[in-house]
Amino acid sequence: MESFDIAVIGAGAAGMMCAAVAAQSGRRVVLIDHAARLAEKIRISGGGRCNFTNSHAQPANFLSENPHFCRSALARYTPRDFLALLKQHRVKWHEKHKGQLFCDDSSETIIDMLKRECDAGGVTWRRPVTVHEIRHDGARFTLDTNAGALGAAALVIATGGLSIPKIGATDFGYRVAKQFGHTLVDTRPALVPLTFTSTDWEPFAALSGLSLPVRIGAGKGKTRGEFDEDLLLTHRGVSGPGVLQVSSYWNTSEPVEIDLLPGIDATAMLLEAKASSKKQIGTLLAAHVPARLAQAWLAAHKVALDARLADLPDRTLRALGASLSNWTLTPSGTEGYRKAEVTRGGVNTRELSSATMMSARVAGLYFIGEVVDVTGWLGGYNFQWAWASGVAAGKAAAEHARGVATGG
Ligand code: FDA
Repeated sequence: MESFDIAVIGAGAAGMMCAAVAAQSGRRVVLIDHAARLAEKIRISGGGRCNFTNSHAQPANFLSENPHFCRSALARYTPRDFLALLKQHRVKWHEKHKGQLFCDDSSETIIDMLKRECDAGGVTWRRPVTVHEIRHDGARFTLDTNAGALGAAALVIATGGLSIPKIGATDFGYRVAKQFGHTLVDTRPALVPLTFTSTDWEPFAALSGLSLPVRIGAGKGKTRGEFDEDLLLTHRGVSGPGVLQVSSYWNTSEPVEIDLLPGIDATAMLLEAKASSKKQIGTLLAAHVPARLAQAWLAAHKVALDARLADLPDRTLRALGASLSNWTLTPSGTEGYRKAEVTRGGVNTRELSSATMMSARVAGLYFIGEVVDVTGWLGGYNFQWAWASGVAAGKAAAEHARGVATGG
């Protein structure tokens, strides 16, 4: 049986970072993945240019049942550290929007960089390889794979979440967690479009393709998320960055609230316009939202497009204003893992060390990246978590393996 210090399962963002760090500290590392193509999620990310981090990343940008868990790893490996690595590899990047950093060239440059980092440490690649069974004898792990058995003093699970099964996402990490006595926080699609029943969405289906800046929120109290971002109407429901962000805060059968005129008191604006202008309501609304939406909105509220503001009762304008400032919709569901960028929930962080990502149940077992119950906002945060948790576990697993090798 081939023997290693550390086995990492999952050669995605977190797994490659972890393997590179551990191998460069002198440990013998094997990196295993079942997919034919390397790091497919990095490849397709950020529209092919990988939004690899966010310069404003802080713990508040992450959701978890244990919100403080991500703090330590994020503080010890920051966006600046990743930028220093990019500089070393001459990877060019630019900022797009709200601290979101993207590659100038394709996301392949990030994959190539991580591959070079692994090769610099002498990582042994095993892919495509399937792991059938994992055993632990109290000190070392044995992995039965379709390419033979492997032994390792430390095992890192970096197999990601459930989103986009067609490019290799599996529940492997969750199964390993359960095998070793870990509990899971319920998983569900996040950063995902929201859908409605065809009856509920019928008045808006014709507006598919329309996009506008809004303020959008979901959830309550400490678990509420509110974002100023674009809303996109689709033929089945709502999408766009604002919706993807709040989808992580949305729970089944709860509403989402949308302010279609962010920064404007819509009721006051309508009443003032009534007093001071001879405009038609349709013309006024179309100055604030796309004309097709203004038309549909007035039709839904049974107000004629060409009605003069001066002729409309205050109560009608108040009702219109309230509906524009607080469009309350209850989605029937989401587009699911087929379209979700990430998985919310995962391995319960209360059973992991926040400094090392090591299991509190089994010494030498680590969970990193998206398989853990830490979910970032849209905008480069999820990769920052993958890098930071990968570095934390890479260093710690190397220490652990050194201890096992020296009998310490
Ligand atoms: P990741 O999914 O990267 O890697 C897991 C690896 O494990 C894969 O290589 C997989 O093949 C392997 N694996 C799974 N099951 C296995 C098994 N049973 N045996 C062996 N190997 C197995 N984030 C961000 O910050 N900026 C962005 O621009 C984007 N864009 C984006 C676009 C799209 C379309 C998606 C779907 C997602 C994003 N994300 C993103 C999210 C980001 O891609 C994601 O959070 C990270 O890739 C998670 O890194 P991990 O290493 O944890 O998993």
